[in-house]
Amino acid sequence: MNILAIIGSPKGKGSGFAIVKRIEEEMQQSGPVNFDYLFLKDADLKMCRGCFLCVTRGKELCPLKDDMAEIERRIEEADGIILSSPGYVYSVSGLVKNFMDRFAWTNHRPAFFRQKLMLLANAGAGMHKTLETMRNCFGAGLEIAAELSFMTPPWPLSEKVNRKQERILKKKVQAFLQALEKPAYGEPSLGNYIRFRFFREIAESVKEYLPADWEYYRDKEQYFYPVRVGAGKRLAARLSVATGLALMKDMAPAERI
Ligand SMILES: Cc1cc2nc3c(=O)[nH]c(=O)nc-3n(C[C@H](O)[C@H](O)[C@H](O)COP(=O)(O)O)c2cc1C
Repeated sequence: MNILAIIGSPKGKGSGFAIVKRIEEEMQQSGPVNFDYLFLKDADLKMCRGCFLCVTRGKELCPLKDDMAEIERRIEEADGIILSSPGYVYSVSGLVKNFMDRFAWTNHRPAFFRQKLMLLANAGAGMHKTLETMRNCFGAGLEIAAELSFMTPPWPLSEKVNRKQERILKKKVQAFLQALEKPAYGEPSLGNYIRFRFFREIAESVKEYLPADWEYYRDKEQYFYPVRVGAGKRLAARLSVATGLALMKDMAPAERI
């Protein structure tokens, strides 16, 4: 089993890294696992310039020449991904934000389905906000198998709290391991299915503005990959997408109103 641990602290080996090392130790107890560490502070991943070409016309048009393709390959080869960010002003670190921006096209056109994702946020407080941002990292498709919120204030915590955090870490590692054992390309969660239907609908209705999206979705009728989706989920998604689109009607191109 291959795990890619993406470390988003500008310190590199700070407290987030120490927690990921604990996760690694815990996982190794359940069987052999290969850990590959990607320190964003050392990666040549340039700042997104905001041209938006990756989203509108295709990621191959990104003008930045750096480690992006290599990072994509490492994600593709992994079975599980751990994305770790310190909480910075109730959000993610700048390194993680830029990482997410560089992968913004996966929010429109998901690319990773086989991998299971574990999110880790560490700070003194407000980690739920950090996790909220991180959930959008790769868009729909891949399953978020576990989310770990870990307190790391600049002072020592009591033994009782340390034991509690350790118990939670072990529980989250088990959830991650269980998800990693599940077969890939299973029936999507309702959330991922709704996102698929929603983005497909938008892609079709503004195909002249987002041609890369329509190119991606036009032959995907059921889901991102061939799979049976239950009738209940299909109905719930239809209602949810119809409501979402009605609420967003002002966003339609001027010539359609
Ligand atoms: C720019 C910056 C902003 C931060 N913002 C917050 C914050 O909003 N809330 C908080 O509890 N800690 C905040 N922190 C503290 C870090 O989250 C904390 O030190 C964390 O343990 C660092 O993790 P690391 O060692 O993995 O880098 C901030 C630190 C920095 C450098």
